[in-house]
Amino acid sequence: MKKEDLQALLNDMSLEEKIGQLIQIPGFLIEGGSVITGPALEMGFDEETYYNAGATLSIFTFERIREIQDQFMARQPHHIPLLFMGDIINGYRSIYPIPLGQGCSFDPALSRELAAMSARESAAEGLHVTFSPMVDLVRDARWGRVMESTGEDTYLNSCFAKAAVEGYQGKDIADAGSVAACVKHFAGYGAPEAGRDYNVVELSDRTLKDDYLPPYKAAVDAGVEMVMTSFNTLNRIPASGNTEYMRTLLRDTWGFHGMLISDWAAINELELQGVADDMAASANMAIHAGVDMDMCTPVYALSLRKLVKEGKVPEALIDESCMRVLELKNRLGLFEDPYHHAHQTKAEQVVLCDEHRALCLKAAEESVVLLKNKRDILPLKKEGQNIAFIGPYADAHRLYGVWSMLGREEDTVSVKEGIEEIGQSNTCTFAKGCRMLDPKFPLTGFHGMEQEEETDDEELLLDAMMKAKRADVVVMLLGEHPAQSGEGGSRGDIRIPKPQRKLLKEISKVNSNIVTVLFHGRPLDIRGVDRRSKAVMAAWFPGIEGGRAIARLLFGESEPSGKLAMSFPYSVGQVPVYYDHFATGRPFNGDITNRFQSRYQDIPNDPMYPFGHGLTYTTFDYVSVELSSDTMTKETPITVSVRIKNIGNRKGTEVVQMYIRDLKGSVVRPVKKLKGFERVTLEQGEEKTVTFRIDHSMLAFTRADMTFDAEPGTFYVYVGGSSAVDKHGEFTLQA
Ligand code: NOJ
Repeated sequence: MKKEDLQALLNDMSLEEKIGQLIQIPGFLIEGGSVITGPALEMGFDEETYYNAGATLSIFTFERIREIQDQFMARQPHHIPLLFMGDIINGYRSIYPIPLGQGCSFDPALSRELAAMSARESAAEGLHVTFSPMVDLVRDARWGRVMESTGEDTYLNSCFAKAAVEGYQGKDIADAGSVAACVKHFAGYGAPEAGRDYNVVELSDRTLKDDYLPPYKAAVDAGVEMVMTSFNTLNRIPASGNTEYMRTLLRDTWGFHGMLISDWAAINELELQGVADDMAASANMAIHAGVDMDMCTPVYALSLRKLVKEGKVPEALIDESCMRVLELKNRLGLFEDPYHHAHQTKAEQVVLCDEHRALCLKAAEESVVLLKNKRDILPLKKEGQNIAFIGPYADAHRLYGVWSMLGREEDTVSVKEGIEEIGQSNTCTFAKGCRMLDPKFPLTGFHGMEQEEETDDEELLLDAMMKAKRADVVVMLLGEHPAQSGEGGSRGDIRIPKPQRKLLKEISKVNSNIVTVLFHGRPLDIRGVDRRSKAVMAAWFPGIEGGRAIARLLFGESEPSGKLAMSFPYSVGQVPVYYDHFATGRPFNGDITNRFQSRYQDIPNDPMYPFGHGLTYTTFDYVSVELSSDTMTKETPITVSVRIKNIGNRKGTEVVQMYIRDLKGSVVRPVKKLKGFERVTLEQGEEKTVTFRIDHSMLAFTRADMTFDAEPGTFYVYVGGSSAVDKHGEFTLQA
């Protein structure tokens, strides 16, 4: 539709219709029946508002979407199509690693392909918008939603934010196989106080500007169509009513022209947060702050009409928001094709096709991080050994985490199935060993996640012990239950569940050759696991090809190449713990007789495994690191060239990381910051040079006077395979 036609449509719409476009009705109301049913009425949606709605969410499969689209368009006075949205976070049916796992690949180009694959499947089934990517920076492993983020680093998250948006949206969202992306949660949702979901966020302006906001900005710069607000307050102002953030920063400064949607019921919660007297005041605050669409509550539906009539909300504001919704529909081409090229046959062709499964496998392999490999216990030999695979994840199929609504166990390859596929002549045995969770753990519902079935714990343990005793190597497959992370999944104890700790302890009494593979949605406290294992692999929730990927990695059919996108704390007492922390006046120098240094009395300062850490089956030598010059100016960038050689005895991939430290500034600077990375695959004996450019913009930060710029002075450069690397050179930025 041309712009003038869109304007004419808007001009012809009644106020009720326009408000309708600003409402998203939950899919479960629609799925309740073909006519408006009890729950919808109870929530406050009357028949008129219901059929005037602009969008819905969580309705999947082409046939249902088409049926509902037809039904709604027939009832909408101008036959305006509905927008179908959904949380397709790490794949539609072809489910790949959770975002935190993807972060560990340090491979945004791969995530771009994954997002494009997810878009192909979702779009073929009729979806228009995905509520992804989540780009919230995360530093506290207690928070359950760290799994949805690509980690603790601003630059890495920004690279992934851009890649995801490009992947989902393709060249043009009107094209078949594209969906509109919605970046979330604006802003600062990744830093809830004490790691407790929905809790307040208190971040200084500088921390926000330098660390937390850039990934959202990267998504906006990549052309993201939608932004979602967050549940939290940000420095005492609820994010969903924050004019300064949503109008001044997002729209006026960053130039975001797309549509802003609240998070689920977040407008309604303004009242509970104590900044609005009632529902109408909440609606008033949100619409003024710039929230175009109300997700899944009738707050806008019940309040905006009255607010306009009372003169509290100018109709122009409603028009502005309504136009944004219509524009998105128009850019998607829905006025011409309300099904957005979706088709049953197309869906059958693409969903779970071989090509998609292969991409899921590649991603699963790249996301796994080998944390430790003592005496090269890995890779496992392909013959002549007795290997016992033990643990609740040995044959589990739910390897895709909590946030994969369409994930199916029958689509998923378990570790056992993956192992059985590998051509090898070992004697392999499998045992569950114990239940996954302590029965006392309150496993409350998330997408039908039910309590575990009853087991005979003694029998499980005996079987596992017997197999472990006979084995040359024991591979323990342990981890969190999927429902222990994700939304509402905050934990104060971030160890693996108790029955599994006990299992590992018992097994380690009869066999010391232990390799542990972990499945999890967050960095864990793995002190006990680490102590009892010669090798540890962090597999996150790797998706439907997870079992195959693990099997291939364990037997050396492929090599681990992941690096931690989020530090593994030594214990929960350290969190928030992150590599780019600030310099202090009393840094700990290792002298434990000196009480008055910045340290703990009972635990180390360093995390168990730092950001960027990850091993593989070969060794790399950083042969040389050379700066093109030891001075630079605003106009003359420099480069750092890194010569790296594979000095081990097989092929391998290294993620070469470049960090910079700004030695002195008008405000305190972090001890180092990631500024570049590159994945390099080298054959045995092969050498390669990787070059990073360093320019003035990469050195900028929010200065004492709140302006954003670099300051002249000395900078250190660090290059290596983790954030715990030594200095390699320095340069001076001249005025
Ligand atoms: C609440 C979550 O915070 C958000 O991430 C999600 O997209 C919406 N619900 C919709 O399901």
